[in-house]
Formats: sequence, C-alpha cells, structure tokens
Amino acid sequence: MKKRAVIQAIGHSVPDKVLTNHDLEKLVDTSDEWIIQRTGISERRMCGPGETTSVLSIRAAKEALAHAKMSPAELDLVVVGTVTGDMLFPSTSCLVQAGIGAVNAGAFDVGAACAGFIYSLSVATAMIENGQVKNALVVGADTLTHFIDWTDRSTCILFGDGAGAVVLSGEEDQGRGIMRTVLLADGTGSQYIDLEIGGSRYPTTNPESAKARKCIYMAGSEVYRFAVNAMGEACCRILDEAGLSPKDVDLFVPHQANLRIIDSAAKRLGLSEEKVFVNVHKYGNTSGGSIPLALYEAEHEGRLQPGMLVMTVGFGAGLVWGANLIRW
Ligand SMILES: CC(C)(COP(=O)(O)OP(=O)(O)OC[C@H]1O[C@@H](n2cnc3c(N)ncnc32)[C@H](O)[C@@H]1OP(=O)(O)O)[C@@H](O)C(=O)NCCC(=O)NCCS
Repeated sequence: MKKRAVIQAIGHSVPDKVLTNHDLEKLVDTSDEWIIQRTGISERRMCGPGETTSVLSIRAAKEALAHAKMSPAELDLVVVGTVTGDMLFPSTSCLVQAGIGAVNAGAFDVGAACAGFIYSLSVATAMIENGQVKNALVVGADTLTHFIDWTDRSTCILFGDGAGAVVLSGEEDQGRGIMRTVLLADGTGSQYIDLEIGGSRYPTTNPESAKARKCIYMAGSEVYRFAVNAMGEACCRILDEAGLSPKDVDLFVPHQANLRIIDSAAKRLGLSEEKVFVNVHKYGNTSGGSIPLALYEAEHEGRLQPGMLVMTVGFGAGLVWGANLIRW
C-alpha cells in the first residue's frame, strides 16, 4: 500500500530580541507608518551573540520531537532548508543532527531561500513515499539579520530570524499527509536577490572579492512583481493538478514576506480573510523559517484541525517558488 508522509508534530524557535519599526527609525530614514503600509511588518526577531541558524534549528527540532514523542535515534533523515547556514560547510543539517543526537540519520541542506521549507518537505516526502526513510526531521530556518546592511532602508526593514521544524513519518495512506507538491525555478532571475560574498565566485581569499556585495541585495519592485505572479502560478498549478479549486482550501499558509503580496494572492484565489494565515507583522520575512513558523502558530491558535486542507506557497532568491498541499 502506498505510504504517505504525515506531519506528526511541529516545533519553532525565534530569538528573544525584538527589533521594532521604531528601532529602525533610529537607523535609517524610514517610519513605522511607511513600513506597516508597504509591508504589514511591525517588528521582527534578531539573533543575539552566538545565535546561529543551527542554534535556532536545534531548538525547533527538539520541540517538534518532544511533541511527536519521538526519540532522535528514531530519525532516518535530517533536512534543513536554509541559505544562511552556520558555515559554507559542513552543512547545517549535520550540526543539527549532532545537536539533537540523531545518531541513525543522514543529513543534508536544501538551498532554496524563502522556498526552502517547501523544497525540503518535498524531498523528504519523496524519500518517505519511496520507502527509503521512515521518519524525517524537516527544518526551515534562516538568520538573515546577520547579512543585512543596516544603512539600506530598502532591505533592513524586511527580514527577521526564525526557524520551524516538523517531524514527518511514513504511514499507510489514509488520505492525510503531504498530498502534492509543485516546485518551480527560473535562474535567469538570479540577479534580483543575492548575497555575493563568500562563495566560489567571490571567495574571501581573493583580493578581487573586495568589489563583491557583503550584504543582501534585492531589487524590490522586480521581486514584488515576481512574487505576486509566482504565488498565483504555484497555487493554481497545484490545485489544478490535484483536481481541486481554491474553495477546497481550508487554510492558506503563504510565505510571510509582505502583507500586500499575501493579500494579492488571496484575492486572486478568492480566499476570504479567515482562510489566510498571517504573522508577518510579528516576524517580518524569516525566509526558510517563514512557513513552518506560520504552521506552528496556526496550529497553536487552533486554526489547524484534523482533516483540513492546507495550502502553503513560497517564493524566493533563485528565483524559486512552489507550493504544498497538506491534508492535516
Ligand atoms: C521592498 C518593498 C517593500 C518596497 O515597497 P514599494 O512600495 O515597492 O516601494 P518602492 O521601492 O517603489 O519605493 C517607493 C519609495 O519609498 C522609498 N523607500 C524605500 N524603502 C523605504 C523605507 N524603508 N522607508 C521609507 N521610504 C522607503 C523609496 O526610496 C521610494 O522613494 P522615491 O519614490 O522617492 O524613489 C517592496 O518592493 C517589496 O516588498 N518587494 C518584495 C520584497 C520581498 O518580498 N522580498 C523577499 C523575497 S523572498
């Protein structure tokens, strides 16, 4: 009988430090009013000293395992969707594997920026469905505040740090679990959001690298246009492939980048406000952490009930985008 990958439990982690729009008013020429009106963000979390992506990931993973009542030794796989790993290598998933004591698990990272969780969930689901693994930990985590130019008002207002993790297990198909995924990419748009320094194009050892950007670069309006189209395309495609329509969706959990982007996707799909989960006002854009953090909060607010159809959608640097359909 076909195996389904089913989410057993979710964990999360955000740094304690809160950075409000009023704090940013002291750093750049901006205002609380402008940020709220253009993005919907009021505050975001920011890592303190020693807080790295693996630190947040390990906290989220431990919470998910505790809720799943699963020992780390039962995990066969640890996948971390991140573009802000602790180091270029080893992978952050290996640090997480060691940090939680997943002594029987393989571990790798997935680099799909803000769609990192959607991509990671898709890979782990396929490995469960084909019988290669039984239990997987899937983490989405990023700490982009480490890479922000705090004098650039067009980017510093947008991003925050956060992580979410799910324990995913193979079960006999009973019509629940990760039902379908759509993954898309267009590398011809790679120049619209990037972090140049430290890779093999601009290694820190090369004097030529002095010209490379050391902080996140983003072409805001190009990314905005892409995001609106990408959200609509991924959602329509996944629903179409599943033979469903937007009215079948019980909860829409989009990547939390900008409230205007979320609203335009919800409007295109004809989804009413109560079917759309939003927490961008509290965390800003936490990249790979965004969707699992939203799922965590949705569940804790009682908005995710067994049997509900959940649609996630994300987009990010790459360019990449995609969606998951999950029967809760
Ligand atoms: C970045 C973003 C919020 C900017 O909003 P926008 O409405 O497109 O604003 P614009 O870039 O057109 O700028 C409008 C004006 O506001 C100014 N501005 C930009 N940032 C500002 C800030 N933080 N505070 C005040 N003014 C700001 C601009 O300089 C511009 O001024 P001008 O008209 O005098 O040139 C928006 O483009 C966006 O959200 N893009 C997508 C970002 C995203 O999702 N990235 C993550 C992808 S995973």
